[in-house]
Amino acid sequence: MSKLLTPIDKNGLKLKNRVAMAPLTRCRAGEDDVPQPMSELYYAQRASAGLIITEATNITPKSCAFEKAPGIYSAAQVQAWKKISDKTHAAGGTLFMQLWHCGRVGSDAVLNGNAPLSPSGINDDLHSLIVYGLMANGRYAQITATPSKEMTIQEIEETISDYAHATENALAAGLDGVEIHAANGYLIHQFLSPTTNQRTDDFGGTLPKRLEFLKRVIEAVLSKAPKSKVGIRISPFAAYNNTRDPNPEETYVAVAKLVEEFGLAYMHLADTNAWAGAPDMEKILNIVKPNYSGCLIGNGGIEPDQAINMVESGQVDIVAFGRAFIANPDLAIRIAQGGPYNEARYVGWYGGDEEGYTDYPSL
Ligand SMILES: Cc1cc2nc3c(=O)[nH]c(=O)nc-3n(C[C@H](O)[C@H](O)[C@H](O)COP(=O)(O)O)c2cc1C
Repeated sequence: MSKLLTPIDKNGLKLKNRVAMAPLTRCRAGEDDVPQPMSELYYAQRASAGLIITEATNITPKSCAFEKAPGIYSAAQVQAWKKISDKTHAAGGTLFMQLWHCGRVGSDAVLNGNAPLSPSGINDDLHSLIVYGLMANGRYAQITATPSKEMTIQEIEETISDYAHATENALAAGLDGVEIHAANGYLIHQFLSPTTNQRTDDFGGTLPKRLEFLKRVIEAVLSKAPKSKVGIRISPFAAYNNTRDPNPEETYVAVAKLVEEFGLAYMHLADTNAWAGAPDMEKILNIVKPNYSGCLIGNGGIEPDQAINMVESGQVDIVAFGRAFIANPDLAIRIAQGGPYNEARYVGWYGGDEEGYTDYPSL
């Protein structure tokens, strides 16, 4: 059997196989951003994965890049997530929640009239920030980002507390762990880049100060969860949401060393540019591997055969699949059998009902 399908027990992370489901925003929360019952079936259907990482989940109502993405800040949300984790566990799955703060990627149209929060209020590129809103007819459409405002120290401190609270809530909801979303141009990524972080206080100006927000977030999360239940997702080269770090090598060697010091269970390497056909995985691995000794999850445009080779050769420990899990609820079983695979239809990726969500067939 291919190593991809074998269990892993490393850095406190114990999984039945090395096939992970990548975090996938699906925008199907109900009122007050509470997940709806259809998400119980959606996640349980995908329990053949060794690890399911949930869709990015807002840690505060002050974060929103995709309307109707779920949250993890209210009691009603915790209750709804508890049902999801119970069903997923009953089906044999392991579920980590991706903790999300979108920062400057937002619009006052989806933030109750408030401006998005960001490290430095850099607003020269609003056209390149990806924000989705719900139209009156129930469809989703990309909407224009509105100018963000520079966070005060008090807002930064509140946000750090929000990460602790969200972690506590996720564990109370029965999740097996949390993934800190530091990728794809959202708030943590914005603090790491000197283009989007031009602060001159304790949170910006030098590389160690740009890392300070992430460091404080990790500390906050670890105040509520053991390190074996905490991972982090990064995308050093991602063009998505235009974070424009001029020297990702320098920034992310420092990030990898920081994560190593804290001993987090895994680093999830999102090769986000690979979706657009320009893979950076080699470069990302060259940055991270020499500096971090825990579990590495690779993701981004990786086909099953390639995943088998990457794990076999020790390049990464685990491979996460995104779009393939939209279309193949039982992907790990299909990989074990060498296919066949359903093709993803471009319907219901963001928003909608069961169509394109829970209606793909298992073998
Ligand atoms: C519909 C959709 C939603 C996504 N939502 C998220 C998300 O919530 N968090 C995240 O970090 N990445 C998100 N991504 C990126 C995926 O996790 C993954 O990196 C991407 O699909 C590339 O992997 P793949 O080639 O296996 O699909 C999303 C991608 C898609 C297609």
